[in-house]
Amino acid sequence: MFKLDPKIFSPHDLQAIDLYSNLADYYAVKYDILKTKFPDAKTIGEIGVRAGGAAWTFLQACPEAEYHGFDMDDKQYGTLSNGEKFTDWAKDLLKDYNFTLHKANTQLIKSLPVDKKFDFIHVDGDHSKAGVMHDLELSIKSLSDDPRAFLLIDDYTHPQLPEVKAGVDEWLENNKLSTDCEFRKSWRGEMMIWRKVL
Ligand SMILES: C[S@@+](CC[C@H](N)C(=O)[O-])C[C@H]1O[C@@H](n2cnc3c(N)ncnc32)[C@H](O)[C@@H]1O
Repeated sequence: MFKLDPKIFSPHDLQAIDLYSNLADYYAVKYDILKTKFPDAKTIGEIGVRAGGAAWTFLQACPEAEYHGFDMDDKQYGTLSNGEKFTDWAKDLLKDYNFTLHKANTQLIKSLPVDKKFDFIHVDGDHSKAGVMHDLELSIKSLSDDPRAFLLIDDYTHPQLPEVKAGVDEWLENNKLSTDCEFRKSWRGEMMIWRKVL
């Protein structure tokens, strides 16, 4: 049974503390999705790590997994209220797991900067339409050949981020011969995408 430990958030992460009850439900859905679809995932990737809340959640579902997060790690996305970087909190929070953070602007690269395929990738970085489509392209290329391997796109129905849905929908239309998808309702909407077994 998943329970979001409030201590995973920095006391200086005012946004997360404010949204704790929504996040508790939200992360519970993400935990359930990974635990149901691929409980023994060995490699987890994530584009957009922030303070590590989702990373921590996925590592509760698959504690032995090797996790690689990709984040531009730029203070333009805000900081903790004491001025520290969100990602520094994430590194400390997850130091007892097989957790590696890569500083990368994924919009400027053509493949994820690690020689690895992932059983599961959470896509939660740039939320523009073009940004989402680019990150989907990077992620599908880095997905492992296991038939259970899948991508999970955050914020698919976020009311303030309509470009996420626009980008995902257009990408799915462009890739409909080779991919399948499933939507699951949550606070901000989960879209799962995987390669069709042809
Ligand atoms: C919504 S937060 C991620 C939250 C995290 N997935 C969670 O649920 O705990 C978005 C993150 O994406 C990162 N980001 C935004 N644009 C990016 C880009 N082009 N390349 C890499 N990271 C990016 C930001 O730095 C920020 O940390």
